[in-house]
Amino acid sequence: MQDILDQLESRRARARLGGGERRIESQHAKGKLTARERLELLLDEGSFEEFDMFVEQAPNEMTADIEPIPGDGVVTGWGLINGRKVFVFSQDFTVFGGSLSQAHAQKISKVMDMAMKVGAPVIGLNDSGGARIQEGVDSLAGYADVFQRNVNASGVIPQVSAIMGPCAGGAVYSPAMTDFIFMVRDTSYMFVTGPEVVKTVTHEEVTQEELGGASTHTTKSSVADGAFENDVDTLLQLRRFYDFLPMSNREDPPVWPTSDPYDREEPSLDTLIPPDAQKPYDMKELITKVVDEGDFFELQADHAANIIIGFGRMEGRTVGFVANQPMVLAGCLDIDSSKKAARFVRFCDCFNIPIITFVDVPGFLPGTDQEYGGIIKHGAKLLFAFAEATVPKVTLITRKAYGGAYDVMSSKHIRGDFNYAWPTAEIAVMGSKGAVEIIYREDRDDPEKIAARTEEYQARFANPFVAAQKGFIDDVIYPRNTRRRLCRALRLLADKHLENPWKKHDNIPL
Ligand code: HXC
Repeated sequence: MQDILDQLESRRARARLGGGERRIESQHAKGKLTARERLELLLDEGSFEEFDMFVEQAPNEMTADIEPIPGDGVVTGWGLINGRKVFVFSQDFTVFGGSLSQAHAQKISKVMDMAMKVGAPVIGLNDSGGARIQEGVDSLAGYADVFQRNVNASGVIPQVSAIMGPCAGGAVYSPAMTDFIFMVRDTSYMFVTGPEVVKTVTHEEVTQEELGGASTHTTKSSVADGAFENDVDTLLQLRRFYDFLPMSNREDPPVWPTSDPYDREEPSLDTLIPPDAQKPYDMKELITKVVDEGDFFELQADHAANIIIGFGRMEGRTVGFVANQPMVLAGCLDIDSSKKAARFVRFCDCFNIPIITFVDVPGFLPGTDQEYGGIIKHGAKLLFAFAEATVPKVTLITRKAYGGAYDVMSSKHIRGDFNYAWPTAEIAVMGSKGAVEIIYREDRDDPEKIAARTEEYQARFANPFVAAQKGFIDDVIYPRNTRRRLCRALRLLADKHLENPWKKHDNIPL
């Protein structure tokens, strides 16, 4: 019997070694951890259970001379993050560059199938040279099997991708169909075609980092939701992020203990809004001052910073925050910010996460860039996303809520459940000066008259009371009491039930 046990141990040891000591050293020399080291950091100690450690890719005429490696370049299984189950796969770059064969794909597919049955999220740690070249069409088939599962799982279980090395060719499309993508700075990159192909086709000379590094994807393309300094930082942040996510669309988000009183007053909020309406202030200050213990996990912070999205907690429960940021483009809605927030709102709605919206928006950004780029269609994404969402929606207007952007930002008219305003709110079709110049066109060249008219308009419309008189605003609240009012609203809405009419699926303007 001992012999048999020893044999098992030696087979396990072989599988654990992946591509061997030399390649492990090379991985470390690049500042990267191995697939297994990453799982150790991501998961609670001792919680990992591995599947398919002995799976090998069947040889073909191109690989007959290559010794197969048990596990075939991906470590799969399940474990716990802060006591909550999670399915994982972690590609092993030391085995054929983490490239994807059919067996490799089948292992990932098995984990995803299991996750769907059990109802738990999947986290993929990607570090792969793409399709295993020697496997030809089998590896393309394998990719497609994974893609189909990504789509089936979308909206059923949360899917998170960490890009921790190369991710090229078709390999980018599986992460692209997951809910969130995080990257490691300097050691990870994603592109459909690499620099060599780019040079041949377009004659552009570009480095891997410029083409698809973490800074490109967190600033320009918005493919990634966040970037962290190194493997360790990324995995620890993933653990923190995971604590916000529900297990599936059948479950409510987790509730974590908090010592932060729901009725904590924040007197400093009474002076957050500057006396001059043209002056910016930092909307993040409001978010961090109302969430439990100031803990806010921002997503896409470096892209379309005129809107803020991310998760926080109120009384221990996950809440999605969407907020205009007056510090950037005066908080205008534009193409990028509309797309960014729309996708986030849809994630929250899929997974029963209430949405708090903070509004200070002077309107949509004007200009040919925006119109030619399709702001009509992209702005409609955010309007559509808020309007279709049936999760609890609580909105607070801090200052400007002008024009169409007022409607879009989770207004009462698109089923906002509680719509509050601070006394500094200005709800109007447009800013006073612009309005006066249109209505009183004949006085345009008389600055004194215009100033007087503007003051008149300001006094009449630039406040929350006109909207409150019509019931479009449920209450005008003291800024210092914001946390208490939001918490009480969410408590009440915990029992909210609202369904959209039956349909196969909607047709959001893509
Ligand atoms: C098989 C691969 C491989 C691949 C790397 N390796 N990519 N083996 N198939 N796709 C192997 C190498 O042969 C090498 O083996 C080891 O992995 C490490 O690779 P290196 O090149 O030494 O590493 P590095 O210098 O860090 O470069 C990493 C890399 C490069 C940038 C990923 O390997 C690369 O460009 N690979 C090819 C990328 C690619 O074009 N993939 C196909 C994309 S098309 P040894 O034995 O020396 O350690 C695609 C289509 C899918 O994915 C479509 C789905 C719809």
